[in-house]
Amino acid sequence: MESLPDRTVDAVLTDPPYSSGGRRENARSIRKSMNRGVEDDDWIRGDAMSTTGFIYLLRLCGIQWRRVLKPGGHALSFIDWRMAPNLVAALETADLRQHPILVWDKAKLGMGAIFRNQHEFIVHVTAGNPSDPQRRDVPNVLRYPSVRDGDHPTEKPGALLQTLLSVVTPPGGLVLDPFAGSGSTLQAARALGHSAIGIEADERFCEVIAKRLDQGVLDFGGAA
Ligand SMILES: C[S@@+](CC[C@H](N)C(=O)[O-])C[C@H]1O[C@@H](n2cnc3c(N)ncnc32)[C@H](O)[C@@H]1O
Repeated sequence: MESLPDRTVDAVLTDPPYSSGGRRENARSIRKSMNRGVEDDDWIRGDAMSTTGFIYLLRLCGIQWRRVLKPGGHALSFIDWRMAPNLVAALETADLRQHPILVWDKAKLGMGAIFRNQHEFIVHVTAGNPSDPQRRDVPNVLRYPSVRDGDHPTEKPGALLQTLLSVVTPPGGLVLDPFAGSGSTLQAARALGHSAIGIEADERFCEVIAKRLDQGVLDFGGAA
């Protein structure tokens, strides 16, 4: 992201590793993902960061988003209930302005010791005063079935991503996803006629992105 010029991106739509798995810090960082140089073959990279590590990484991202977004540009980031306050803090302290949080209703019962989980959140911030939305008919509770047997363990539904982009991205705009996974955001952006930049640390998923978008992987150092 550091190589992107200032004020060039219309919207950020992303889905970082939530690092939310363990109830306690030692459980969360037990796989030492912040220190590990090798790939985590069984799951996604960065998903076992400590809370401090998560806030540090997302604040660095927020600082870049504040810089690369056009004035008033929107950033939307998926997150779960446990890490939402940490994500908001990371982005607010990067001088991004917070807006009401969105709820993704996954339309099916998940796990849960007392109440069963059926939602995730989408944190919404802008670079200063928000630019006008492209449409005003989209609610902040969005019901889209979660993806089964996708190309990525935490793949997000393309229709949901398209709906989100249709509100915050002007025609022909540039979309950034710095945690691109299987490239769902990039595909959604393309379907709407936008340009998109994706960054993905795991080479396995860079290959998936390249296949999905039918183009070569440009840089195995981590960008597709
Ligand atoms: C939650 S997944 C995104 C899934 C995506 N939304 C999809 O639909 O396929 C997060 C992704 O971020 C990647 N990642 C983790 N740390 C990263 C980093 N520092 N830079 C770039 N990508 C990273 C992981 O490899 C993982 O694929």
